[in-house]
Amino acid sequence: MTLLGLVERLYYTVHRRGDVLSVLRARLAARAPLRDVLDFGGGTGRVAAALAPGLEGTWTVADVDSESLARVTKSPRIRPIQIPERGPLPFPDASFDAILSVDVLHHVPAAEGTLAEWKRCLRPGGLVLAVEFDGGSGAGRFLARVARWRRQPCRFWRPGELAGGLEHAGLAATTERIDALRYVAEGTKPIS
Ligand SMILES: C[S@@+](CC[C@H](N)C(=O)[O-])C[C@H]1O[C@@H](n2cnc3c(N)ncnc32)[C@H](O)[C@@H]1O
Repeated sequence: MTLLGLVERLYYTVHRRGDVLSVLRARLAARAPLRDVLDFGGGTGRVAAALAPGLEGTWTVADVDSESLARVTKSPRIRPIQIPERGPLPFPDASFDAILSVDVLHHVPAAEGTLAEWKRCLRPGGLVLAVEFDGGSGAGRFLARVARWRRQPCRFWRPGELAGGLEHAGLAATTERIDALRYVAEGTKPIS
């Protein structure tokens, strides 16, 4: 495990992950019924496994890491798929009603391209929910220093920056703080 991964894991031990899941569950339920959900950078499928049972739809867990994807508990409603680190996502236009990304975007190189891909892959009226570490918070600045020290190319977006990035991609964006370090950015694709 990388040092940054260790620091992230320490963070998770002192902050209840359940808070994030509750926030995501409530926002997804407000958009029900959902036919197709993408968990971008979904890793082992932790988020999909926690949220899918209470919500409708088919969940695609997409990640660059095949070892994490091998641990996804497969079910008729949850399917893992490996994706490239950058570049177009392997999904047709307007494939998903919702795209989730939990603690992923700071790892993604040239993430503006990913935001544009999210917009392309969303159906009109569809929703992006991106949970991120606030690069402007004390803990976020510490994580950024650890990443720089370890020469790990991470970008910790401030809430306003990520909202601006989503708007630039063509989504109507809002942000809400979850705890001292994390926030959720919500982007909605216009109907027309
Ligand atoms: C901190 S983990 C979060 C995993 C999962 N979202 C969760 O909350 O359990 C970050 C994940 O981002 C994935 N990742 C890193 N770079 C990525 C990229 N360019 N595109 C998609 N996923 C990526 C990693 O493989 C890893 O599974």
